[in-house]
Amino acid sequence: MTLRFIFVFPASLCVRGSHGCCLAAGAGSGRKDFEEDPRVQGARGHRRSVSRGSYQLQAQMNRAVYDERPPGSLVPTSVAEASRAMAGDTTLSENYAFAGMHHIFDQHVDSAVPRLQFANDDKRLLACCSLDGTLSIMTLSPPPPTVKVTLKGHAGPVTDFAWSLSNDIIVSTSKDGTLRIWNTEDGRCIREVADPEGSELLCCTFQPMNNNLTVVGNSKHHLQVVNISTGKKVKGGSSKLTGRVLSLSFDAPGRILWAGDDRGSIFSFLFDMATGKLTKAKRLVVNEGSPISSISARSWISREARDPSLLINACVNKLLLYRVVDNEGTLQLKRSFPIQHGSQPLHSIFCPLMSFRQGACVVTGSEDACVYFFDVERNTKAIVNKLQGHSGPVLDVSFNCDESLLASSDTTGMVIIWRREQK
Ligand SMILES: *[C@@H]1O[C@H](CO)[C@@H](O)[C@H](O)[C@H]1NC(C)=O
Ligand SMILES: *[C@@H]1O[C@H](CO)[C@@H](O)[C@H](O)[C@H]1NC(C)=O
Repeated sequence: MTLRFIFVFPASLCVRGSHGCCLAAGAGSGRKDFEEDPRVQGARGHRRSVSRGSYQLQAQMNRAVYDERPPGSLVPTSVAEASRAMAGDTTLSENYAFAGMHHIFDQHVDSAVPRLQFANDDKRLLACCSLDGTLSIMTLSPPPPTVKVTLKGHAGPVTDFAWSLSNDIIVSTSKDGTLRIWNTEDGRCIREVADPEGSELLCCTFQPMNNNLTVVGNSKHHLQVVNISTGKKVKGGSSKLTGRVLSLSFDAPGRILWAGDDRGSIFSFLFDMATGKLTKAKRLVVNEGSPISSISARSWISREARDPSLLINACVNKLLLYRVVDNEGTLQLKRSFPIQHGSQPLHSIFCPLMSFRQGACVVTGSEDACVYFFDVERNTKAIVNKLQGHSGPVLDVSFNCDESLLASSDTTGMVIIWRREQK
Protein backbone atom coordinates (compact mmCIF):
# COMPACT_ATOMS: atom_id res chain seq x y z
CA MET A 1 0.00 0.00 0.00
CA THR A 2 1.43 3.36 -0.98
CA LEU A 3 1.64 6.38 1.26
CA ARG A 4 -0.50 8.24 -1.19
CA PHE A 5 -3.23 5.72 -0.71
CA ILE A 6 -3.03 5.90 3.05
CA PHE A 7 -3.18 9.64 3.02
CA VAL A 8 -6.22 10.06 0.84
CA PHE A 9 -8.20 7.31 2.49
CA PRO A 10 -9.78 9.39 5.25
CA ALA A 11 -11.08 11.95 2.77
CA SER A 12 -13.16 9.29 1.11
CA LEU A 13 -14.75 8.58 4.46
CA CYS A 14 -15.87 12.06 5.35
CA VAL A 15 -19.53 12.55 6.12
CA ARG A 16 -21.58 12.68 2.98
CA GLY A 17 -24.88 14.15 2.11
CA SER A 18 -25.69 16.26 5.07
CA HIS A 19 -22.58 18.27 5.71
CA GLY A 20 -20.94 19.47 2.59
CA CYS A 21 -18.60 16.76 1.50
CA CYS A 22 -17.56 15.15 -1.73
CA LEU A 23 -18.19 11.71 -3.04
CA ALA A 24 -15.30 9.54 -4.06
CA ALA A 25 -16.13 9.59 -7.76
CA GLY A 26 -15.24 12.44 -10.11
CA ALA A 27 -17.21 15.61 -9.44
CA GLY A 28 -19.52 16.92 -12.14
CA SER A 29 -17.97 14.56 -14.62
CA GLY A 30 -17.41 16.21 -17.92
CA ARG A 31 -18.62 19.59 -16.72
CA LYS A 32 -16.29 22.52 -16.93
CA ASP A 33 -18.43 25.34 -15.67
CA PHE A 34 -16.03 26.70 -13.11
CA GLU A 35 -12.34 27.07 -13.44
CA GLU A 36 -10.80 23.73 -12.66
CA ASP A 37 -8.51 23.67 -9.69
CA PRO A 38 -5.66 21.30 -10.61
CA ARG A 39 -4.87 20.31 -7.04
CA VAL A 40 -8.47 19.32 -6.51
CA GLN A 41 -8.45 17.21 -9.63
CA GLY A 42 -5.30 15.55 -8.43
CA ALA A 43 -6.88 14.82 -5.10
CA ARG A 44 -10.00 13.51 -6.72
CA GLY A 45 -8.06 11.35 -9.11
CA HIS A 46 -6.54 9.56 -6.17
CA ARG A 47 -9.77 9.28 -4.34
CA ARG A 48 -11.50 7.64 -7.26
CA SER A 49 -9.53 4.48 -6.72
CA VAL A 50 -10.49 4.25 -3.07
CA SER A 51 -13.61 2.45 -2.00
CA ARG A 52 -15.51 2.82 1.21
CA GLY A 53 -14.08 0.98 4.15
CA SER A 54 -15.10 0.03 7.62
CA TYR A 55 -14.55 2.05 10.73
CA GLN A 56 -11.98 -0.47 11.91
CA LEU A 57 -10.09 -0.27 8.66
CA GLN A 58 -10.06 3.48 8.90
CA ALA A 59 -8.71 3.40 12.44
CA GLN A 60 -6.03 1.00 11.21
CA MET A 61 -5.07 3.38 8.43
CA ASN A 62 -4.96 6.34 10.79
CA ARG A 63 -2.64 4.37 13.02
CA ALA A 64 -0.46 3.35 10.08
CA VAL A 65 0.15 6.97 9.15
CA TYR A 66 0.82 7.85 12.75
CA ASP A 67 3.31 5.03 13.22
CA GLU A 68 5.28 6.01 10.15
CA ARG A 69 6.10 9.42 11.52
CA PRO A 70 9.83 10.01 11.93
CA PRO A 71 10.56 10.66 15.62
CA GLY A 72 10.00 14.29 16.55
CA SER A 73 8.26 15.26 13.33
CA LEU A 74 4.66 16.38 13.10
CA VAL A 75 3.67 14.28 10.11
CA PRO A 76 5.31 11.70 7.86
CA THR A 77 7.55 13.65 5.53
CA SER A 78 6.49 11.98 2.30
CA VAL A 79 2.84 12.40 3.19
CA ALA A 80 3.43 16.04 4.02
CA GLU A 81 5.08 16.53 0.65
CA ALA A 82 2.24 14.83 -1.17
CA SER A 83 -0.23 17.04 0.62
CA ARG A 84 1.73 20.18 -0.13
CA ALA A 85 1.74 19.26 -3.80
CA MET A 86 -2.05 19.00 -3.77
CA ALA A 87 -2.80 22.03 -1.64
CA GLY A 88 -0.23 24.24 -3.32
CA ASP A 89 2.09 26.15 -1.06
CA THR A 90 -0.70 28.28 0.31
CA THR A 91 -1.52 29.00 3.92
CA LEU A 92 -4.98 28.24 5.21
CA SER A 93 -5.82 31.97 5.10
CA GLU A 94 -4.86 32.13 1.43
CA ASN A 95 -6.87 29.00 0.74
CA TYR A 96 -9.98 30.48 2.29
CA ALA A 97 -9.70 33.98 0.87
CA PHE A 98 -12.98 34.80 -0.87
CA ALA A 99 -13.13 37.21 -3.77
CA GLY A 100 -16.61 38.37 -2.82
CA MET A 101 -20.22 37.65 -3.58
CA HIS A 102 -20.85 35.58 -6.67
CA HIS A 103 -24.64 35.71 -6.52
CA ILE A 104 -27.57 36.45 -4.20
CA PHE A 105 -30.80 34.40 -4.24
CA ASP A 106 -33.83 36.14 -2.78
CA GLN A 107 -36.73 33.82 -3.67
CA HIS A 108 -37.41 33.14 0.03
CA VAL A 109 -37.00 36.71 1.22
CA ASP A 110 -38.98 37.56 4.39
CA SER A 111 -38.90 33.95 5.62
CA ALA A 112 -35.80 32.49 7.22
CA VAL A 113 -33.76 29.87 5.32
CA PRO A 114 -32.66 27.52 8.10
CA ARG A 115 -30.74 25.00 5.96
CA LEU A 116 -28.91 24.94 2.66
CA GLN A 117 -26.76 22.26 1.13
CA PHE A 118 -24.80 21.71 -2.06
CA ALA A 119 -25.57 18.43 -3.82
CA ASN A 120 -23.11 15.56 -3.37
CA ASP A 121 -20.20 15.72 -5.75
CA ASP A 122 -21.85 18.36 -7.94
CA LYS A 123 -20.44 21.83 -7.60
CA ARG A 124 -23.25 23.59 -9.49
CA LEU A 125 -26.31 22.31 -7.66
CA LEU A 126 -27.59 23.76 -4.38
CA ALA A 127 -30.81 23.35 -2.40
CA CYS A 128 -32.31 25.22 0.53
CA CYS A 129 -35.46 25.02 2.64
CA SER A 130 -37.50 27.86 4.02
CA LEU A 131 -39.95 28.69 6.76
CA ASP A 132 -42.25 29.80 3.88
CA GLY A 133 -43.10 26.09 3.40
CA THR A 134 -41.10 25.43 0.22
CA LEU A 135 -37.67 24.20 -0.79
CA SER A 136 -35.77 25.36 -3.85
CA ILE A 137 -33.11 23.75 -5.98
CA MET A 138 -30.75 26.19 -7.66
CA THR A 139 -28.26 25.73 -10.49
CA LEU A 140 -25.22 28.01 -10.44
CA SER A 141 -24.06 27.37 -13.98
CA PRO A 142 -24.26 27.76 -16.88
CA PRO A 143 -24.80 31.42 -15.93
CA PRO A 144 -26.92 33.10 -14.84
CA PRO A 145 -27.56 31.23 -11.57
CA THR A 146 -31.23 30.24 -11.48
CA VAL A 147 -33.86 28.54 -9.36
CA LYS A 148 -34.30 25.27 -11.23
CA VAL A 149 -37.29 23.89 -9.36
CA THR A 150 -39.40 24.74 -6.30
CA LEU A 151 -40.59 21.89 -4.08
CA LYS A 152 -44.13 22.77 -3.02
CA GLY A 153 -46.40 20.72 -0.80
CA HIS A 154 -45.55 21.18 2.85
CA ALA A 155 -48.30 22.95 4.78
CA GLY A 156 -45.89 24.50 7.28
CA PRO A 157 -42.33 25.78 7.71
CA VAL A 158 -39.67 23.40 6.32
CA THR A 159 -37.15 22.74 9.08
CA ASP A 160 -34.53 20.49 7.47
CA PHE A 161 -33.73 18.43 4.39
CA ALA A 162 -31.06 16.12 2.98
CA TRP A 163 -29.82 15.08 -0.48
CA SER A 164 -29.56 11.36 -1.21
CA LEU A 165 -26.10 10.12 -2.21
CA SER A 166 -26.96 10.13 -5.90
CA ASN A 167 -28.85 13.48 -5.64
CA ASP A 168 -31.95 11.93 -7.21
CA ILE A 169 -34.11 12.53 -4.16
CA ILE A 170 -34.39 14.98 -1.29
CA VAL A 171 -36.14 14.25 2.01
CA SER A 172 -37.53 17.14 4.03
CA THR A 173 -39.14 17.67 7.42
CA SER A 174 -41.73 20.26 8.35
CA LYS A 175 -43.65 21.68 11.25
CA ASP A 176 -46.72 20.38 9.38
CA GLY A 177 -45.82 16.99 10.90
CA THR A 178 -44.76 15.27 7.67
CA LEU A 179 -41.63 13.90 6.11
CA ARG A 180 -41.70 14.34 2.34
CA ILE A 181 -39.64 12.62 -0.32
CA TRP A 182 -39.06 14.60 -3.51
CA ASN A 183 -37.84 13.84 -7.01
CA THR A 184 -35.15 16.48 -7.57
CA GLU A 185 -35.43 16.36 -11.39
CA ASP A 186 -39.04 17.48 -11.71
CA GLY A 187 -39.82 18.58 -8.15
CA ARG A 188 -42.55 15.98 -7.70
CA CYS A 189 -43.41 14.85 -4.17
CA ILE A 190 -42.97 11.06 -4.35
CA ARG A 191 -44.18 10.25 -0.85
CA GLU A 192 -45.48 11.86 2.29
CA VAL A 193 -45.02 10.20 5.67
CA ALA A 194 -47.01 11.63 8.59
CA ASP A 195 -45.48 11.63 12.05
CA PRO A 196 -47.37 8.99 14.05
CA GLU A 197 -47.55 11.39 17.00
CA GLY A 198 -48.74 14.23 14.78
CA SER A 199 -45.96 16.39 16.09
CA GLU A 200 -43.69 18.89 14.34
CA LEU A 201 -40.72 17.32 12.56
CA LEU A 202 -37.53 19.26 13.18
CA CYS A 203 -34.63 17.43 11.53
CA CYS A 204 -33.70 14.55 9.23
CA THR A 205 -30.67 12.76 7.83
CA PHE A 206 -29.89 9.83 5.53
CA GLN A 207 -28.14 6.72 6.78
CA PRO A 208 -24.94 7.19 4.71
CA MET A 209 -24.53 3.49 3.83
CA ASN A 210 -28.19 2.78 3.05
CA ASN A 211 -30.15 5.61 1.52
CA ASN A 212 -33.37 3.62 1.91
CA LEU A 213 -33.27 4.68 5.52
CA THR A 214 -33.61 8.14 7.00
CA VAL A 215 -33.75 9.28 10.59
CA VAL A 216 -36.25 11.92 11.66
CA GLY A 217 -36.44 13.91 14.91
CA ASN A 218 -39.65 15.45 16.27
CA SER A 219 -40.79 17.97 18.86
CA LYS A 220 -42.08 15.26 21.21
CA HIS A 221 -38.48 14.21 21.90
CA HIS A 222 -38.57 11.20 19.55
CA LEU A 223 -36.13 9.90 16.99
CA GLN A 224 -37.37 7.46 14.36
CA VAL A 225 -35.72 5.49 11.58
CA VAL A 226 -38.00 5.48 8.52
CA ASN A 227 -37.68 3.16 5.52
CA ILE A 228 -38.39 5.60 2.72
CA SER A 229 -38.98 2.91 0.11
CA THR A 230 -42.02 1.79 2.12
CA GLY A 231 -42.75 4.89 4.20
CA LYS A 232 -42.83 2.66 7.29
CA LYS A 233 -41.16 3.04 10.66
CA VAL A 234 -38.30 0.59 11.21
CA LYS A 235 -38.90 -1.72 14.17
CA GLY A 236 -36.49 -0.96 17.00
CA GLY A 237 -35.44 2.19 15.20
CA SER A 238 -36.85 4.69 17.65
CA SER A 239 -35.64 6.33 20.81
CA LYS A 240 -36.43 9.19 23.15
CA LEU A 241 -34.27 12.17 24.01
CA THR A 242 -34.62 14.66 26.86
CA GLY A 243 -36.01 17.44 24.66
CA ARG A 244 -37.08 18.45 21.16
CA VAL A 245 -34.75 16.79 18.66
CA LEU A 246 -32.96 19.59 16.79
CA SER A 247 -29.88 18.10 15.14
CA LEU A 248 -28.68 14.78 13.72
CA SER A 249 -25.47 13.50 12.18
CA PHE A 250 -24.13 10.08 11.29
CA ASP A 251 -20.42 9.33 11.34
CA ALA A 252 -19.14 8.49 7.85
CA PRO A 253 -19.39 4.67 8.16
CA GLY A 254 -23.00 5.02 9.42
CA ARG A 255 -22.13 3.24 12.64
CA ILE A 256 -22.83 5.99 15.17
CA LEU A 257 -25.75 8.41 15.01
CA TRP A 258 -25.53 11.65 16.97
CA ALA A 259 -28.62 13.55 18.07
CA GLY A 260 -28.89 16.87 19.88
CA ASP A 261 -31.90 18.30 21.71
CA ASP A 262 -33.12 21.66 22.98
CA ARG A 263 -32.23 20.84 26.60
CA GLY A 264 -28.51 20.80 25.90
CA SER A 265 -27.90 17.06 25.51
CA ILE A 266 -26.07 15.15 22.80
CA PHE A 267 -26.77 11.42 22.59
CA SER A 268 -24.85 8.80 20.66
CA PHE A 269 -26.65 5.77 19.23
CA LEU A 270 -25.18 2.63 17.75
CA PHE A 271 -26.84 1.83 14.45
CA ASP A 272 -27.39 -1.78 13.41
CA MET A 273 -26.89 -1.81 9.65
CA ALA A 274 -28.73 -5.10 9.08
CA THR A 275 -31.93 -4.22 10.93
CA GLY A 276 -31.96 -0.42 11.26
CA LYS A 277 -32.15 -0.71 15.05
CA LEU A 278 -30.83 2.04 17.31
CA THR A 279 -29.12 1.42 20.65
CA LYS A 280 -28.61 4.37 22.94
CA ALA A 281 -24.97 4.56 24.03
CA LYS A 282 -23.72 7.82 25.57
CA ARG A 283 -25.06 11.17 26.67
CA LEU A 284 -23.22 14.45 27.10
CA VAL A 285 -24.82 17.56 28.58
CA VAL A 286 -23.07 20.45 26.85
CA ASN A 287 -24.84 23.16 28.81
CA GLU A 288 -28.11 22.46 30.62
CA GLY A 289 -30.97 24.14 28.76
CA SER A 290 -28.93 25.35 25.77
CA PRO A 291 -30.29 23.98 22.47
CA ILE A 292 -27.90 21.88 20.33
CA SER A 293 -28.66 23.44 16.96
CA SER A 294 -26.00 21.70 14.86
CA ILE A 295 -23.87 18.55 14.89
CA SER A 296 -21.34 17.58 12.20
CA ALA A 297 -19.27 14.43 12.41
CA ARG A 298 -15.91 13.95 10.74
CA SER A 299 -13.65 10.88 10.76
CA TRP A 300 -10.40 12.69 10.41
CA ILE A 301 -10.05 16.47 10.52
CA SER A 302 -6.48 17.06 9.41
CA ARG A 303 -3.09 15.48 8.99
CA GLU A 304 -2.21 16.51 12.50
CA ALA A 305 -5.50 15.59 14.16
CA ARG A 306 -6.37 11.98 13.57
CA ASP A 307 -9.29 11.67 15.95
CA PRO A 308 -12.87 11.42 14.79
CA SER A 309 -14.46 14.73 15.76
CA LEU A 310 -17.78 16.49 16.25
CA LEU A 311 -18.45 20.14 15.53
CA ILE A 312 -21.27 21.54 17.66
CA ASN A 313 -23.32 24.74 17.87
CA ALA A 314 -24.99 24.90 21.28
CA CYS A 315 -26.18 28.48 21.94
CA VAL A 316 -23.23 29.16 24.26
CA ASN A 317 -21.60 31.97 22.22
CA LYS A 318 -18.99 29.47 21.07
CA LEU A 319 -18.45 26.95 18.33
CA LEU A 320 -17.35 23.71 20.02
CA LEU A 321 -15.07 20.99 18.68
CA TYR A 322 -15.15 17.61 20.42
CA ARG A 323 -12.94 14.59 20.03
CA VAL A 324 -14.69 11.21 19.86
CA VAL A 325 -12.62 9.03 22.17
CA ASP A 326 -14.17 5.56 21.85
CA ASN A 327 -16.46 3.36 19.75
CA GLU A 328 -19.50 4.28 21.82
CA GLY A 329 -19.20 7.97 21.13
CA THR A 330 -17.75 9.37 24.35
CA LEU A 331 -16.86 13.02 23.76
CA GLN A 332 -14.02 15.18 25.03
CA LEU A 333 -13.87 18.94 24.39
CA LYS A 334 -10.89 19.80 22.21
CA ARG A 335 -11.36 23.47 21.27
CA SER A 336 -13.87 26.28 21.26
CA PHE A 337 -14.10 29.43 19.16
CA PRO A 338 -15.96 32.63 20.08
CA ILE A 339 -19.02 33.50 17.98
CA GLN A 340 -22.30 35.24 18.75
CA HIS A 341 -24.77 32.48 19.47
CA GLY A 342 -27.52 32.83 22.07
CA SER A 343 -30.74 31.48 20.59
CA GLN A 344 -30.86 31.08 16.79
CA PRO A 345 -30.62 27.63 15.12
CA LEU A 346 -27.07 28.18 13.80
CA HIS A 347 -25.13 25.55 11.85
CA SER A 348 -21.49 24.89 11.07
CA ILE A 349 -19.42 22.59 8.84
CA PHE A 350 -16.01 21.06 8.39
CA CYS A 351 -14.36 22.15 5.14
CA PRO A 352 -14.60 19.24 2.69
CA LEU A 353 -11.00 19.21 1.47
CA MET A 354 -9.24 19.97 4.70
CA SER A 355 -7.52 16.63 5.05
CA PHE A 356 -5.09 17.63 2.32
CA ARG A 357 -3.87 20.79 3.99
CA GLN A 358 -1.84 21.98 6.86
CA GLY A 359 -4.23 22.93 9.61
CA ALA A 360 -7.94 22.36 9.29
CA CYS A 361 -10.78 24.73 8.72
CA VAL A 362 -14.32 24.91 10.07
CA VAL A 363 -16.99 27.42 9.03
CA THR A 364 -19.96 28.64 11.05
CA GLY A 365 -22.85 31.07 10.91
CA SER A 366 -23.16 33.66 13.66
CA GLU A 367 -25.82 35.95 15.08
CA ASP A 368 -23.73 39.03 14.21
CA ALA A 369 -24.61 38.42 10.51
CA CYS A 370 -21.10 37.20 9.64
CA VAL A 371 -19.65 33.90 8.43
CA TYR A 372 -16.55 32.80 10.35
CA PHE A 373 -13.71 30.49 9.31
CA PHE A 374 -11.53 29.04 12.06
CA ASP A 375 -8.36 26.98 11.91
CA VAL A 376 -8.80 24.22 14.46
CA GLU A 377 -5.06 23.69 14.78
CA ARG A 378 -4.09 27.29 15.47
CA ASN A 379 -3.84 28.22 19.12
CA THR A 380 -3.85 31.98 18.73
CA LYS A 381 -5.70 34.06 16.15
CA ALA A 382 -7.74 31.08 15.04
CA ILE A 383 -9.92 33.27 12.78
CA VAL A 384 -8.89 32.60 9.19
CA ASN A 385 -11.58 34.66 7.49
CA LYS A 386 -14.82 36.54 8.19
CA LEU A 387 -17.43 37.26 5.50
CA GLN A 388 -19.75 40.23 5.87
CA GLY A 389 -22.80 40.80 3.70
CA HIS A 390 -25.83 39.28 5.42
CA SER A 391 -28.32 41.51 7.18
CA GLY A 392 -29.47 39.00 9.79
CA PRO A 393 -28.08 36.07 11.79
CA VAL A 394 -26.39 33.55 9.45
CA LEU A 395 -28.12 30.20 9.98
CA ASP A 396 -26.32 27.77 7.70
CA VAL A 397 -23.25 27.43 5.48
CA SER A 398 -22.33 24.89 2.79
CA PHE A 399 -19.27 24.36 0.60
CA ASN A 400 -19.49 22.80 -2.83
CA CYS A 401 -17.32 19.72 -3.25
CA ASP A 402 -14.20 21.41 -4.61
CA GLU A 403 -14.55 24.39 -2.26
CA SER A 404 -14.72 26.85 -5.15
CA LEU A 405 -18.03 28.20 -3.78
CA LEU A 406 -19.50 28.71 -0.33
CA ALA A 407 -23.20 29.33 0.23
CA SER A 408 -24.71 30.92 3.34
CA SER A 409 -28.29 31.65 4.41
CA ASP A 410 -29.86 33.91 7.01
CA THR A 411 -32.98 34.76 9.00
CA THR A 412 -34.12 37.32 6.40
CA GLY A 413 -34.30 34.61 3.72
CA MET A 414 -31.23 35.74 1.79
CA VAL A 415 -28.89 33.15 0.27
CA ILE A 416 -25.42 34.38 -0.67
CA ILE A 417 -23.01 32.49 -2.91
CA TRP A 418 -19.37 33.43 -2.27
CA ARG A 419 -16.59 32.67 -4.73
CA ARG A 420 -13.17 31.56 -3.56
CA GLU A 421 -10.16 33.32 -5.05
CA GLN A 422 -8.37 31.04 -7.50
CA LYS A 423 -4.64 30.96 -6.82
C1 LIG B 1 -33.59 0.08 -1.35
O1 LIG B 1 -34.76 -0.72 -1.53
C2 LIG B 1 -34.94 -1.20 -2.84
C3 LIG B 1 -36.22 -1.99 -2.85
O2 LIG B 1 -37.28 -1.16 -2.52
C4 LIG B 1 -33.76 -2.05 -3.25
O3 LIG B 1 -33.89 -2.45 -4.58
C5 LIG B 1 -32.47 -1.26 -3.08
O4 LIG B 1 -31.36 -2.10 -3.32
C6 LIG B 1 -32.34 -0.70 -1.68
N1 LIG B 1 -31.19 0.12 -1.58
C7 LIG B 1 -30.30 -0.01 -0.59
C8 LIG B 1 -29.18 0.97 -0.61
O5 LIG B 1 -30.39 -0.84 0.28
C1 LIG C 1 -36.94 -1.19 3.51
O1 LIG C 1 -37.96 -1.54 2.60
C2 LIG C 1 -37.51 -2.30 1.48
C3 LIG C 1 -38.66 -2.48 0.53
O2 LIG C 1 -39.72 -3.17 1.13
C4 LIG C 1 -36.95 -3.61 1.98
O3 LIG C 1 -36.46 -4.35 0.89
C5 LIG C 1 -35.82 -3.34 2.96
O4 LIG C 1 -35.37 -4.55 3.52
C6 LIG C 1 -36.31 -2.45 4.08
N1 LIG C 1 -35.15 -2.13 4.93
C7 LIG C 1 -35.19 -2.20 6.27
C8 LIG C 1 -33.92 -1.96 6.99
O5 LIG C 1 -36.19 -2.46 6.89
